[in-house]
Amino acid sequence: MSANQKTRRILVAGNWKMNKTPREAAELMRELIPLICEKGKLNCDVAVCPPAVDIPVVGQILAETKSEIALGAQNVHYEASGAFTGEISAPQLSELNVKYVIVGHSERRAMFGDTDETVNKRAKTAVAHGLIPIICVGETEEEREKGLTADVLIRQTRGAFSSMTRDDALKTVIAYEPVWAIGTGKTATAEDANETIGIIRAEFAAMYDNDAAESIRILYGGSMNAGNAESLLAMPNIDGGLIGGASLKAVDFSKIVL
Ligand code: PGA
Repeated sequence: MSANQKTRRILVAGNWKMNKTPREAAELMRELIPLICEKGKLNCDVAVCPPAVDIPVVGQILAETKSEIALGAQNVHYEASGAFTGEISAPQLSELNVKYVIVGHSERRAMFGDTDETVNKRAKTAVAHGLIPIICVGETEEEREKGLTADVLIRQTRGAFSSMTRDDALKTVIAYEPVWAIGTGKTATAEDANETIGIIRAEFAAMYDNDAAESIRILYGGSMNAGNAESLLAMPNIDGGLIGGASLKAVDFSKIVL
């Protein structure tokens, strides 16, 4: 199946992580927007997820240029306001026209205490405020070597969607990001990523139903770049990419966009 024939619309989202000052973010957007624009009508959804301090300037440039690129954030707290130093709320993001928010990225799980439970709470809050959470799941290298990939993915998927209604679950996007492939230059092969995403899709079908599993978008992330994107996106189970390193260079990111 070619990527363009999929019933699920592909989403290419850039995760800038903790990179780019507001000035650098503006420069990157001024370079990226014409590259995306010259492709004409896009065959996929595109989003950039800059650091929180860059969101206003990136949002302003997207609005000025009437770009099709959507704005995303990298984290959202589960309360709407309160004493949560350093966190960002859903209403704060919504007011800045943020559409997507990454939830449960492995870096936040490993370094900032996110658990299946907090991922679930963050995702539910995002949906309740009209944001689309991009919920990340993925096994570590050690878990993979021990043959625990399916167990980990099933646990994380069940955890993320715990007591979430079918309607709300279908307002989310899942990203399969094997931890060993993130920022390492090691990509899962297209076949491998496709098969592993199949495990997540099957679990989603078990939690909800087959129709729900057919419509939920599941992205791949982990060292995806202009060279390997085409073969990954051509896979029937892979509905887009969450791109880290390659989203920091306008030309590289634009080449991934269909
Ligand atoms: P990478 O990061 O493309 O640099 O591997 C992907 C991610 O962490 O979302």
